Order: sequence, then structure tokens, then C-alpha cells
Amino acid sequence: MSASDFPAWSREVAGRIETVLADLLPPSRIAPARLHDAMRYAALGGGKRVRPMLVFAAGLVSGASAARLEIASAAVELIHAYSLVHDDLPCMDDDVLRRGKPTCHVEFDEATALLAGDALQSLAFQLLAENRLADDPELQLQMIQLFAVACGSRGMAGGQAIDLDAVGKTLTLPELENMHIHKTGALIRASVLLGAHCGQPLDAASLGGLDRYAKCVGLAFQVVDDVLDEESDSATLGKTAGKDREAGKPTYTALLGLAEAKKFAGELLAESHDALAPFDARADRLRELADYIVRRDR
Ligand code: IPE
Ligand code: IPE
Ligand code: MG
Ligand code: MG
Ligand code: MG
Repeated sequence: MSASDFPAWSREVAGRIETVLADLLPPSRIAPARLHDAMRYAALGGGKRVRPMLVFAAGLVSGASAARLEIASAAVELIHAYSLVHDDLPCMDDDVLRRGKPTCHVEFDEATALLAGDALQSLAFQLLAENRLADDPELQLQMIQLFAVACGSRGMAGGQAIDLDAVGKTLTLPELENMHIHKTGALIRASVLLGAHCGQPLDAASLGGLDRYAKCVGLAFQVVDDVLDEESDSATLGKTAGKDREAGKPTYTALLGLAEAKKFAGELLAESHDALAPFDARADRLRELADYIVRRDR
């Protein structure tokens, strides 16, 4: 497909991840049925699937097989789905709308939502442990380790802790950046690295370039999420708009204002392209994804 086919390519990846997840998630007819129902509810039938797209796009750079990328992208999306279920709980952001549907704890109940998140996370690691993702088993262990770090207290979960602790406070710009890098950036960075590692070994300079790209895009993703919360509407977003301001969340828009936040996202986009400058056309999907992430409307 040529570069101009990005919409078709992104639809193809989204369709593929939906099929893969539908296949890999335990069927509702197997006990405990309500838990399996809740897991499927949280993971299937919605979402932009940006992280799976990043996995597949990074895999194009290293010539990774579709079979490996399907597993890696499923693992990343399962962690993402779990993080959203927990993020929406009354003890966290207390949201009732997600991906245009009632949130998991509203559709089921809080205990089921909590457990669904737990089980989605376990399933992600199960997939990485029981499928071959790299020729070298040592590298595969490193991939699982980098992914675990990205999800844990020094990654996404840690960022969520900073987020909750910061409610009602005014963070400095470096503190806000640190929060965003962890709560959202870590998983996005892991998506790119996992996808790249599924293919042929890359030299240190190439991996460094991809890492720099991923860090810029990861931070830009949350800056744009903050902008959309302020600027868009619930119907477009599929989640309740304006919640951050109402909840006293520290966001880029709260700290910098809309115009400056958008400008910052644009700067991060430029830097992400700069990081990919040494790469040939195999990095074009990554380039297009960065553009999409910063210019998206939901
Ligand atoms: C929302 O992520 C949560 C953040 C990390 C900002 P997405 O905007 O990727 O949510 P979906 O998967 O498309 O619903
Ligand atoms: C969520 O950030 C980040 C994670 C789920 C790790 P937000 O709280 O801003 O995400 P939304 O806006 O509810 O999707
Ligand atoms: Mg949150
Ligand atoms: Mg939230
Ligand atoms: Mg948000």
C-alpha cells in the first residue's frame, strides 16, 4: 500500500486486532461467564486501536511477521483496555461513558470491573509468555521485561498514581510532563519497541531513533487528549468531555491554555519526524501515525 493509503491501512489493523482479540479472549460461555463477558465488553468493539497500529508500524521497520505483531499488539491493547476500565472506576476518574458505551463498572458492577481489569492484564502477559516473538529467547525475555516496567509503578500505574495525587494541585510543567510520560507515554513507547523487536535485530542508533520518536508521540498523545477533553464534545469523543476541568485535573490545557498546548503538541510532532529522519520509507506508517495522533479529533 502507498503512503496515501493510511486510512485503509489503519482500518485494516483495527479490523485485524478486533478479530485477534475476539479469538484470544475467553468466550463468555466459559465460567466465570460474567467476568469473561466484562473482559470482552471492555476490550472489543471500540477504541481507535492506536497502540496496535504503533506495534504494526514499528514492525514494518524491522520486517516483523504479522503473526508476531498480532500477539504483541493484542498484549498492548489488553493492557490499555484494563487501564481504561480501572481509570473509569469511581475511585479514580469516576466516568460513566467510554467508547460511546456505559463504562465497565456501570454495565456490570465495580467488583467485576476491577477483576476484569486484573484478568485483562494477566492475559496480556500470558500471550507474551506463550508465543514466540523473537528468535532469541533472551531478547523475548527482555521484551516482556520492558513491557512489565512500562505497565508498572515506574510506568503507567505510577503515572496514574501521580495523576490521582495531583488532583486540585497546580503542577509545574516538568511535573506535568513527568506524569504524562508515565501514565500514557510509557505504554505507547512500549508499543513501538515491542513491534520493532518482533522483527530483525536493529542497530543501537535505529533503536534509539525509534525510542525518541515513541517518547515524543507518547507525550503528544496525552497533550492532545487533554486538548480534546477541553475542546471537543462527548458524542465525538465517546467519553464525557470537560471532565478534567470539572475534576480539577492538572492538564496541559489548564497549565498552558489551549493555544499553547496545541503548539506544544505540534513541536512534539516535529521532533518525532526529526527522530525518524534517518529511516527510509519503511517508517512511513510511523510518520503518518504521528500526524494522526496529533491531528485527530477524538
Ligand atoms: C485514552 O486512550 C486514554 C489515554 C491514555 C489518554 P485512547 O484515546 O487511545 O482510547 P481509545 O482506545 O481510542 O478508546
Ligand atoms: C488515562 O488518562 C490514562 C490511562 C488510562 C493510563 P485519562 O484519564 O486522561 O484518560 P481518559 O481521558 O479518561 O480517556
Ligand atoms: Mg485518568
Ligand atoms: Mg480518565
Ligand atoms: Mg483524558
